[in-house]
Amino acid sequence: MQLEHDITPLRERLAIARREGQRIALVPTMGNLHAGHLALVERARALADLVVATLFVNPLQFSAGEDLGRYPRTLDADRAQLAAHGCDLLFAPDVETLYPGGLEAQTQVQVPVVSEGLCGGSRIGHFDGVATVVSLLFHLVQPDVACFGEKDFQQLAVIRKLVADLHFPIEIVGVPTVRADDGLALSSRNGYLSPSEREQATALYRTLSRCAEALARGEAVDSAIATARRELAASGLRLDYLELRAPDLTAFDPARHTAGRLLGAVYLGTTRLIDNVAVRMPSRSDG
Ligand code: PAF
Repeated sequence: MQLEHDITPLRERLAIARREGQRIALVPTMGNLHAGHLALVERARALADLVVATLFVNPLQFSAGEDLGRYPRTLDADRAQLAAHGCDLLFAPDVETLYPGGLEAQTQVQVPVVSEGLCGGSRIGHFDGVATVVSLLFHLVQPDVACFGEKDFQQLAVIRKLVADLHFPIEIVGVPTVRADDGLALSSRNGYLSPSEREQATALYRTLSRCAEALARGEAVDSAIATARRELAASGLRLDYLELRAPDLTAFDPARHTAGRLLGAVYLGTTRLIDNVAVRMPSRSDG
């Protein structure tokens, strides 16, 4: 696997691939890779001739007071894992390479509406930072396809909208969340949890799943969400949000939607965890 830190050799390598008619897949990451990231690489491998991963802890998507400084940076281990999973090219730029004019002066991309509420409500400017860096990476790599995890469901929706609105000729592939045996969604931030917090964290997926089942049985949305909130609180998780939305993250309308997405974010100490599950609503003939 080739490793590049600079834009010129990256472009040279990609130009060769394009001249040879290769299909290019992109997997953007912030590193500290786990099986969830590797599932993205494997999916990309199945979809393209050349798999490009990027590793960049993007300061623009962290608000003041968030974990930018302590976000784990594990380039050597990430590199070995990417190579073992069939990645061909890793682009790992530093901040000055991607944002040479400085963060304050950087041109930014905003994706309205879908960036608002949920994580966008508690992490102000987060999705502007994501949309900006992903646009930059799309311009630099010009992939045919790009893979993103469903764990960051709102991010996936933001990127789909970005690609549609800016007419990027890129297919966006959402890859299902990879979970630990006890259901916890894999996340680089799980590494911040103490052993007892790690145990408590399992309540998030358990509660989302129970709530989705209650909704599928026909329980009213308000009542099912209220029960789930109580369960999370009883497990010692501090709720950021818990919401049922339509699968495209527009407002859920029980009269219209037969499926939904239940999304939650909680704090355990200073660690914020997110997760989401699909919800199938009962068809009117079910009951
Ligand atoms: O999901 C992530 O790891 C990041 O938000 C992304 C898409 C790599 C942009 O920095």
